Order: sequence, then C-alpha cells, then structure tokens
Amino acid sequence: MSRYCGRHPGTRPLVSVQSGLRCARPSGRAYQHTLAMTASAQSLHHGVAQSEAYKSEYVFGFGSLIGNPGFEYSDKVEPCYIKGWRRVFWQGSTDHRGTPEAPGRTVTLEPCEGAVTWGAAYKIAGDAEQRQETITYLEWREKQYDLREIVPVFTDASSSQPHVTALVYIATSDRSANPNYLGPAPLDDIALQIATSVGPSGPNRDYLFALAASMRRMNVQDEELFLLEAKVRALLDLPGNGDSSSTAAAAAGVPIDSSEPS
Ligand code: SIN
Repeated sequence: MSRYCGRHPGTRPLVSVQSGLRCARPSGRAYQHTLAMTASAQSLHHGVAQSEAYKSEYVFGFGSLIGNPGFEYSDKVEPCYIKGWRRVFWQGSTDHRGTPEAPGRTVTLEPCEGAVTWGAAYKIAGDAEQRQETITYLEWREKQYDLREIVPVFTDASSSQPHVTALVYIATSDRSANPNYLGPAPLDDIALQIATSVGPSGPNRDYLFALAASMRRMNVQDEELFLLEAKVRALLDLPGNGDSSSTAAAAAGVPIDSSEPS
C-alpha cells in the first residue's frame, strides 16, 4: 500500500499534517475500490479477544475518548500517536450521534502505511476489579466498534520505542461484524450528514467540533479534519473557530511539521 496517506511526525511531534493523499478521500468509482482495499487491509488485522482487552493497562482514544474518556485514569499521555492508521469519518452512528433512520458519522481508523493518528492514551485507574469495570464500560460505550487492537503508542518521533501499548477500538468495514459501517464519501456529503445528524448524545456537529478542538489543544494540524469542520460551520452558518491551526501552532512557537514519512 502506498505511503502517501499521511505524514510521519518530525522530531518535534507536536504538530503533524494528515493531509488527504493516496489513502484519503477517493472520488467517483474509486470509492468501491477503496472499500475493497480497506476490507482486505483490515482483514490483516484480526484484533485481540475481549479477554485480552481486559488485560490492557492503557486505552488509546482518537475520537470522543480524547476529550471525554468517561472513566477514572491514573496517567494521561497527550499528545501521542499511533502508526499505520488513519482517522476517517467512515463509521455510521445510530446510537450516539445519529439514529437508525438518520445515522451520524463518527471516526474510525483505516489501515494506512506511513500514516499516524494523534490522540490521547489513558491508564485505567484502580485495582483489578475497578479496571475490569472500566473495560466493561468501554465495551458498552464502544459497542459499535467491532475490532480491538493493542497498539504501540508513541510520543517521541526520534525514538523507535513506544511510550506505552494501549487498547484501541476500531470499526471495520466488515459489514457482517459492523452493520453500521458507512465507508468513504465526498467530504461535502460527510459534512452535510454531520451538520444535520443528531443522536441520543447530541448533535453530530458537536462531536466533530470537540475533536477538532482537541487537535488544536495539542497543536496537531489535521488538515482534513479542519477542512471538514470548516465545511460543517459554513453549512450551519456558524462563525469559524477563530483559531486556525497554523495560528495556533505559531502561537505555541511550534513549527508546522512538513517532513516526509521517514
Ligand atoms: C475513540 O474515541 O477512541 C473511539 C471513537 C469514539 O468513541 O469516538
């Protein structure tokens, strides 16, 4: 698979560019091709059994878990990233940010060589019993995500050693295991769906805005995410966030990393 799907962070991993290149938004008939590619790439990932998930000390969040873990933790690693996965708004949400009649879109991870996905890792607090309760909570919360992986989590691009390993929940393109999978669509269509969907947890747009705000807080530049946010704001006639990623990066004195994958 092509490496042209994101960029590896440089030696100062505070800002990364996840620009839409080869594994990113396809157009026209390329959707079906991408779906097939995604299915075959994901079939390489068998994940871990639920029992393994219960043994994990850390959980890596790349969506709502970043800003709202919802459980007690004893350590938080942020910003941090995982390699070989790209964040995409390809998962349908029928119980959270949409309904079965009008699904919203939440993020999942697509295998993508050379890509990185930024997020936060949380160490589950407490004794064995409390940790078990937390995983049971996560299993319930992430029940529309059908794959569990234990992934190396990095904080330092100059080191090949992960900081920790963590459990991550992924929604795959296997529709028998994940009937809510929506897959790729033009960014304008995704924006419209997010702008108009509402579920038991609230408007889909708030999910997107919270995620974009998390990336800004970490000084991570996620071009496609910010573009989607801008499209949704425009559709809803909402003012911009007033804090473009490059402004935030400049304010933090962090250069925008334009390094190629290493
Ligand atoms: C995650 O945050 O890690 C999973 C996706 C979500 O719950 O939004």
